Amino acid sequence: MKVMIGADHGGYTLKQTIVDFLTEQGHDVQDVGTHDNTACDYNDPATEVANAVRAGTVERGILICGTGVGMSIQANKIPGVRAALVSDVYTAEATRAHNDSNVLTMGGRVLGAGVALKIVETWLNTPFSGEVRHARRIEKLENNR
Ligand code: RB5
Repeated sequence: MKVMIGADHGGYTLKQTIVDFLTEQGHDVQDVGTHDNTACDYNDPATEVANAVRAGTVERGILICGTGVGMSIQANKIPGVRAALVSDVYTAEATRAHNDSNVLTMGGRVLGAGVALKIVETWLNTPFSGEVRHARRIEKLENNR
C-alpha cells in the first residue's frame, strides 16, 4: 500500500520505528519528515500528508506528534480527510470499519512501540465495512450535515 507518514519532534522516534516496520512489510512508504528531534510545527507534515491523501497520490496517511491531537485537528481541516486519533487496537479496527478513516494519528509520547505497531497493522489491514448506515454517516461527514 502507498502510505505517507509524517511527524513532529514529539513523534519522530515512533515514526522511525513505523517507517522501518512498514518498509519491512513491503509497503511503499513516503516519509515527509521531520528527520530529527529538533522542535518543529506539527501543522506542516499534517497538511502535506492530508493533501496527498485528498489528492489520491497515496492511499493512507499516518501522522505522529506528542499526543496525536494537533495532527488530527490539522489533518481534519482538509476536505475528504477523515483522520482518527487512535490509542488502542479496538479503535484502530472500528475506525476503519465504521469511519473509513484515511489518516491515522497517534501520540509518540503516549504509546509504546509495541501497541503502536499493532495499531498500524490493524488499521492498514481492516477494510471499510461498506454497511449502509456507516456509509450514510460518512456522507454526512463529507457534506457537513
Ligand atoms: C509538541 O510539544 C506537542 O505539543 C505536539 O507534539 C503535539 O502533541 C500537539 O498536539
